[in-house]
Amino acid sequence: MRFQLKLVEGVPLSEIIALYWQEIKNFQARPGDVLIATYPKSGTTWIQEIVEMICHNGDLEKCQHAPIYERIPFIELLQCMPPDAETVNAMPSPRYLKTHLPYQLVPPSFWKHNCKVIYLARNARDAATSYYYFDHMAKIHPEPGSWDQYLQRFMNGNVGWGSWYDHVKGFWEEKDKHDMLYLFYEDIKQNSISEIQKVMWFLGKDLPDATLEKIAHCTSFSQMKNNAMANYSTFPKEMMDQSQYTFMRKGQVGDWKNLFTVSQNELFEEDYRKKMSKTTLKFQVSI
Ligand code: A3P
Repeated sequence: MRFQLKLVEGVPLSEIIALYWQEIKNFQARPGDVLIATYPKSGTTWIQEIVEMICHNGDLEKCQHAPIYERIPFIELLQCMPPDAETVNAMPSPRYLKTHLPYQLVPPSFWKHNCKVIYLARNARDAATSYYYFDHMAKIHPEPGSWDQYLQRFMNGNVGWGSWYDHVKGFWEEKDKHDMLYLFYEDIKQNSISEIQKVMWFLGKDLPDATLEKIAHCTSFSQMKNNAMANYSTFPKEMMDQSQYTFMRKGQVGDWKNLFTVSQNELFEEDYRKKMSKTTLKFQVSI
């Protein structure tokens, strides 16, 4: 069984999220909460694990007491999967929380309490590619259909959590109004230590170089792929079926080249230029 998409304040969200929208919007953030915000498939789990490792001073064992989705709860899904809202309310401060909501739908309590936000963006082509494979597995969304159909839907913003273009621009344009760190997947891939260091400083921590190196190692794709507390292998199969594809798929920059045809890429580029013409935001599509 799969859930369909439903418009919530103009943004297509899984109907299971739409059903509980009032509760989600009224989520009560607390002063000191840290929100990790991403468009889906942009390396959310990666940055979650980096944040966890920093908070535990690079102690991997301490990070392995529970799966990543329990350690850093997903605020849109508290009504339908563990941990539930009550458990999240009882978590000690500072809490680390995750969302895929676009800027305008983030529960207002986060802004009211001036919570820190870590936003991670990934180039559109790799995000679309990753999302296509993910939607084969994830039951909270409709069947992805053919790649050609899916790419069209992605370009039209008709996928879960809406338009990639609006999402990355929305946070980018508002970042200076908040306590927000805006990061890029491609940068972490290229310079993991210095990007991890940025996160560390943003969180008010100071760890020695050897610890940063350990964090970079433990959060590398190959390590996280084999880490049951980070790779979603413990996630309920009814919600995510990893028999055909795995959550930790490739973890590369530029894998889109294996999926986009030349003509799809040309069409995509033309549309991309229009949608991104007014922003200073720039992405690397290969490294
Ligand atoms: P691919 O499907 O391209 O492999 P999210 O956590 O936002 O759902 O993002 C999932 C994407 O991030 C997947 O991309 C996954 O492989 C990649 N990813 C997860 N951990 C990673 C890591 N440690 N390094 C690089 N990429 C990672």
